[in-house]
Amino acid sequence: MKIAVSYLASYYSKEKTISLINRTDADFIHVDLMDGGFVPRKNFLIEDVGRLFKNNEKSLDIHLMVFDPIIYINDLARIKPEYITFHIEATKEIVKTIEVIKAKGIKVGIAIKPATSILELMPYLSFIDMVLVMSVEPGEGGQTFIPSTLSKIEELKKIRENNNLSFLIEVDGGINKATIKDLNVDIVVSGSFVCKSKNYQEKINELKSK
Ligand code: DX5
Ligand code: ZN
Repeated sequence: MKIAVSYLASYYSKEKTISLINRTDADFIHVDLMDGGFVPRKNFLIEDVGRLFKNNEKSLDIHLMVFDPIIYINDLARIKPEYITFHIEATKEIVKTIEVIKAKGIKVGIAIKPATSILELMPYLSFIDMVLVMSVEPGEGGQTFIPSTLSKIEELKKIRENNNLSFLIEVDGGINKATIKDLNVDIVVSGSFVCKSKNYQEKINELKSK
């Protein structure tokens, strides 16, 4: 499983946290962007993101927790992310958003909140590169993994297999040394478990040796 590290909850500034993640062998930096509408907290200005990730070393995995994701894509494309993922609950223009992200040469993911059914994804699964299954309510780091996520992941894997689809499955929220043991997906996101520690690489090693 690949590891994406979210810098949302950390002892250090964003700048320092990002530079520490860049020095580990994590596969991605997971960039959580919130608009203060789709989720209560707002944590970014597009200029900040441009500054923080100018010439970034690791691949970027952007998780948009915003209404109207489409309006951010042009600006975000400048930091050359590998993935941009938006929430199915956040827009009515799902097909258009997929197309706009793909037209920039960026891989596209759709995220679902814990209460959203996998079935909502069905019309889009053959057009996207990734499904991000939220295992906590989006909005904050440091929450507890919701166990019912596990059956959702199994359901999604069956759909992928039965239909010969190739999207990746990513899980985000409450991942630590214990909760990762039950997971077998393509990418796991870990935030506070890694960044609320003094030695990021040690924590990543613990996740990798699950
Ligand atoms: C939650 C974010 C997550 C979060 C993960 O809204 O999407 O990426 O930062 O942090 P932990 O691992 O602390 O749950
Ligand atoms: Zn996230």
